Amino acid sequence: MQDEAGSLVRRRIVLIGRAKRRSLLAVPCFAIVLLAPAGGTQVSHELPGSTEDHLAAKGWWPTKATSHGPAYAGEGACGKCHVQEYSNQANTSMAKADLRLSDNPENADPVSGTLESGSYTYRLVPANDGSNLEVQSQGKSISVNVLWVFGAGVHGRSFILGDRREYYEAQVSSFSSTHALDLTPGHTIAMEGSLENAIGNRLSIREATRCFACHTTAWSTEGKIDLEKAVPGVHCEACHGPGSEHISAEQNHPKDGASSTIFNPAHLTPSGSIDFCGACHRATMDVVLNPIPSGISSIRFQPYRLQKSRCWEKTEDARLSCTACHNPHEPLVRIASFYDQKCLSCHTQQRGAKQASLALPSAGNPSVCPKAATDCVSCHMPKYNLPEMHSQFTDHFIRIVRPGQSYPN
Ligand code: HEC
Ligand code: HEC
Ligand code: HEC
Ligand code: HEC
Ligand code: HEC
Ligand code: HEC
Ligand code: HEC
Repeated sequence: MQDEAGSLVRRRIVLIGRAKRRSLLAVPCFAIVLLAPAGGTQVSHELPGSTEDHLAAKGWWPTKATSHGPAYAGEGACGKCHVQEYSNQANTSMAKADLRLSDNPENADPVSGTLESGSYTYRLVPANDGSNLEVQSQGKSISVNVLWVFGAGVHGRSFILGDRREYYEAQVSSFSSTHALDLTPGHTIAMEGSLENAIGNRLSIREATRCFACHTTAWSTEGKIDLEKAVPGVHCEACHGPGSEHISAEQNHPKDGASSTIFNPAHLTPSGSIDFCGACHRATMDVVLNPIPSGISSIRFQPYRLQKSRCWEKTEDARLSCTACHNPHEPLVRIASFYDQKCLSCHTQQRGAKQASLALPSAGNPSVCPKAATDCVSCHMPKYNLPEMHSQFTDHFIRIVRPGQSYPN
C-alpha cells in the first residue's frame, strides 16, 4: 500500500493477522474495540470484516448461497405489505443490474456498428431469442448466443454468452456515453488464434457464480448456482435474505415479533453496515486483502475510498455509512445540494471566539468550510473519468482537493 493510503489501511493490515486467526477460530463477531483519543471524544474503532469472513459467519449476508430451496418467497411477495419500498426499489439500477435475454428479447437493445480489434471484427446481430455476438476474421465467422445482459446501462453493459453449459464473458461491451462497442474493461486485444478464443473469456463455474451472486436474486438452490431460477437484478431478498419464513410468520402470527425472522441491516454498526454494501461494492478488507492496481480504478470501491477519509477515521459514525447518503430502496440522487445536509450534520459548528482557541478541529468539533456553504460534494467528492468505462465515477474519499493534484491512491 502507498504511504498516502493512510493510517486506516495500515491499521487494518496490522489487524488482518488478528482477523485471520479469529476467523480460524470461527468467532463470528468482528468488533475489536480500541480506544483512540480524538479531541476528547472517544471513538470506538471496529475492525471491518472481509466479505469472506462475513459469509463464513452464521446468518444471512448478501451474496450468500442458501442451502434450502423454498426459502425464497420470490419477486413480488414482499410488495404485498411493504408497498412503498417495493414500488420505489423497482426503479433503481440495482433492480435492473442484469436481464435474461430469453425472458425479454425486446430488451436486447443491441448497439449497431462494429468494433475492429486486432484482426477481429465484432458486431451484435439480432437472433430469434434476442441477440448474438458475431466475431469474424479472414473470411471466417462464428456467432454465439447472448444469454444475459449485465448492467443497468448507466455506464455500460456486458454480455454473458454461451449455450447453458459453458459461459463466456464477451470480449466487447456496449458503452452508454458513446453508444458503441468497445473492449470489455479488463480484457486485452485477442491474439491470433481460434475465433472461440476471440469471442470472450471463458468463465469457470466459480467465476460465473460470483457474477450472478452480485447481480441477481435467489440465484442458488441447495447451495449451488441455479440460473434457471435466478431472478435478474438485485431485489429485496438479495439484501434481506430469503423471506418465506418472515412472510408466513407475519401472516400467521402478526403480533409475534416476526421482525426477527428477516435480516434488517438497520441494526448493523456503522462499519458493519458499510461492509454490508461492500458484499457487492467491495468492502475495504476485500480491497486490502486482494490488492488492486494503484491508480484511478480504485474509485469503483466506494467503501475503501470512503473509509480513508478523515471524516470517517475520526468518527466511524453512522452519518457516514452508505445508507446515510443513499437509500437502497430508491434511485441514486444526482443533485449535489441534496448531500449538503449530510455533511452539515457534522460540519456545522461556527467557530466562535471560544472555539477558535481550540488547538485542532476534532471529532466533536469538525471544521467549517472557508470556501462555500453549498454543493459540498462538488468539490470534496470529485468525479473522475475512467477511460476504459467511457464514464465518470465519484470519489468517495472526502477530502480537500488542491488544483492540479493527481488522484491520491
Ligand atoms: C404479510 C405481510 C408481510 C410480507 C409479505 C412481508 N413483510 Fe416484512 N414485515 C411485515 C411487518 C408487519 C413488519 C414489522 C414487524 C415488526 O416490526 O414486528 C415487517 C418487517 C420487516 C423488516 C424489518 C425487520 C426488523 O427486524 O425490523 C424487514 C427488513 C422486512 N420486513 C422485509 C421483508 C421482505 C424482504 C419481504 C419479502 C421477502 C417481506 N418483508 C414481506 C410484514 C410483511
Ligand atoms: C447483492 C449485491 C449488492 C448489494 C448488497 C448492494 N449493491 Fe448497490 N449495486 C449492485 C449492482 C450490481 C449495481 C450496478 C447496477 C448497474 O448499474 O448495473 C449497484 C449499484 C448501486 C448504486 C448506483 C446506482 C446508479 O444509479 O448508478 C448505488 C448508489 C448503490 N448500488 C448503493 C448501494 C448501497 C447503499 C448498498 C448497501 C445498502 C448496496 N448498494 C448494496 C449490487 C449490490
Ligand atoms: C462482488 C460483486 C460483483 C461481482 C462478482 C461482479 N459484479 Fe458487476 N457490478 C457490481 C457492482 C457493485 C456494480 C456497480 C458499481 C458502481 O456503480 O460503482 C457492478 C456493475 C457492473 C456493470 C455495469 C457497468 C459498470 O461497470 O458499472 C456490468 C456490465 C457488470 N457489473 C458486469 C459484471 C460481470 C459480467 C461480472 C462477472 C464476470 C460481474 N459484473 C461481477 C458488483 C459485482
Ligand atoms: C441493496 C440492498 C437492499 C435492497 C435491494 C432492499 N433493501 Fe430493504 N433495507 C436495506 C438496508 C441497508 C436497510 C436498513 C436501512 C437503514 O439503515 O435505515 C433496509 C431496511 C428495510 C426495512 C426496514 C425499515 C426500517 O425502518 O427498519 C424494510 C421493511 C425493507 N428494507 C424492505 C425491503 C423490501 C420490501 C425490499 C424490496 C422491494 C428491499 N427492502 C430491498 C437494504 C436493501
Ligand atoms: C457523504 C455522502 C455519501 C456517502 C456516505 C456515500 N456516498 Fe455514494 N455517492 C455520493 C454522491 C454525492 C454520489 C454521486 C451522485 C451523482 O452522480 O451526482 C455517489 C455515487 C455513488 C455511486 C454511483 C457511482 C459513482 O461513482 O458515481 C455508487 C455505486 C455509490 N455512491 C455507492 C456508495 C457506497 C457503496 C457507499 C458506502 C461505502 C456510499 N456510496 C457512501 C455520496 C455518498
Ligand atoms: C460524522 C461526521 C462527519 C460527516 C458526516 C462529514 N464529516 Fe468531514 N470531517 C469530520 C471530521 C471529524 C473531520 C476531521 C476534523 C476536521 O478536519 O474538521 C472531517 C474532515 C473533513 C475535511 C478535511 C479533510 C482533510 O483531509 O483535511 C473535509 C474537506 C471534510 N471533512 C468535508 C466533508 C464533506 C464535504 C462532507 C459531506 C460529503 C463531510 N465532510 C461529512 C466529520 C464529518
Ligand atoms: C467551490 C469548492 C468548494 C465547495 C463547494 C465546498 N468546499 Fe469545503 N473547501 C474547499 C477548499 C478549496 C478548501 C481548502 C481551503 C484552504 O485550506 O485553503 C475547503 C476546506 C474545507 C474543510 C476543511 C477546513 C479546515 O479548516 O481544515 C471542510 C471541513 C470543508 N471544506 C467542508 C465543506 C462543506 C461541509 C461544504 C458544503 C457546505 C464545502 N466544504 C463546500 C472547497 C469547497
